[in-house]
Amino acid sequence: MKTAEHPVLSIENLSIDYLAETTVHAVRDVSLTLRRGEILGLAGESGCGKSTLAYGLTRLLKPPAFITGGRVVFSSREGYDIDLSTLGGEDLRAFRWDKIAMVFQGAMNSLNPVLRIAEQLEDVFLTHRPELGKAERRRRCGELLELVGVDRGRLRAYPHELSGGMRQRVMIAMALALEPQVLVMDEPTTALDVVVQREILQEITRLRSELGFAVVFITHDLPLLLEISDRIAIMRAGLIIELDDALTLYTNPQHPYTRRLLSSFPSLTGERGDFIRSGVLTGDIALEETEQTLEATAAEDVGIDKEEAR
Ligand SMILES: Nc1ncnc2c1ncn2[C@@H]1O[C@H](COP(=O)(O)OP(=O)(O)OP(=O)(O)O)[C@@H](O)[C@H]1O
Ligand SMILES: [Mg+2]
Repeated sequence: MKTAEHPVLSIENLSIDYLAETTVHAVRDVSLTLRRGEILGLAGESGCGKSTLAYGLTRLLKPPAFITGGRVVFSSREGYDIDLSTLGGEDLRAFRWDKIAMVFQGAMNSLNPVLRIAEQLEDVFLTHRPELGKAERRRRCGELLELVGVDRGRLRAYPHELSGGMRQRVMIAMALALEPQVLVMDEPTTALDVVVQREILQEITRLRSELGFAVVFITHDLPLLLEISDRIAIMRAGLIIELDDALTLYTNPQHPYTRRLLSSFPSLTGERGDFIRSGVLTGDIALEETEQTLEATAAEDVGIDKEEAR
C-alpha cells in the first residue's frame, strides 16, 4: 500500500474555460496533488473558480465549460493510474461513485422526494454492487446511515420527514457507500446552521481517519478550513496562489492575498488573535474558542436538543 505522501489524485496544468459570449478562463494552469487520506482545503473569494475545479476533477463539467489543457490522474490504492480524460460513458459513471464521490452544496435537495431513504441508498448498491443480496443491501444501508450519525430507523422515512442536516448526512452516506478513495465536498454544509455544520464536520474528520479516504473540501469559510484541513490551497482568479500545510499558512502566509484573506476573518485576528484548532491534527495548539464553538456552546446553554437541531 502506498503511503500518505503518495498522491491519490494529481491535477496537472489543468485549465478550464467557459466558452460563453466572452470566454472566461475559470481555472488557469492549476497543478495540485491530493495525498492519500489527507483533507485538502480549497478557499478563495466567490467566482475564483473553486467549483469549476471541483467539477473538472470529477469530470462533471457541462458545456459551455471545457477543459482546454492539462489532465487529472487518479492513482488507485491498488497501484494503477487512470487518466480521467480517457474514461467515458459507463466507465466514467462507475469510476465516479466507486473511486471519487462528491457532495455538493444543496445536495440534500437532490434526494428524490417520492422515494424512501432506504430505496435511494439501496439504489447505489443495486447499480454498482448487483451481486449483493437483498438482506445484505439492507444491512449495508442501515450501517451507512449510522456511520453518518442518523438512526437506521430513518431508512423508512421520506426526505421531507428529515431535517436539512439529516438529509445532508444522507447525501454524505450515499457518497461513502462504495468506500471511495476521494471525496470532493463543495460547500457541503453552507446551508446548515453552525451547530449542525460542526457536528457533520467532526463526523467527516472521524470517518476519514476510520476509512482512509482523502477529501477536497471547498468553502469560503477559512477559519473552518484551518481547523479541519491538513493542507490548504488558496485560489484567486483561476490560479492557486498559495498552498501549504494549514498551520504554516496561518502562521506564515506568503502571498499578500492570503494575508488579506486571513485578516478578513475577525475570529482569526484582533485581540483573541490566536488560531483555534479542535486538536484533530495538532493537539499541541491551544484550543481557542471560535465564533462557532461559542455559538455551539450558546446553543447548548439554551438547551437546544441536538437531535432536534439536526
Ligand atoms: N455556466 C457558466 N458560464 C459562464 N461563466 C461561468 C459559468 N459558470 C461559472 N462561470 C464563471 O466561472 C468563474 C468561476 O466560477 P465558479 O463557480 O467556479 O466560482 P467559485 O469559486 O465556485 O465561486 P463561489 O464561491 O461563489 O461558489 C466565475 O467567473 C463565473 O462567473
Ligand atoms: Mg462554487
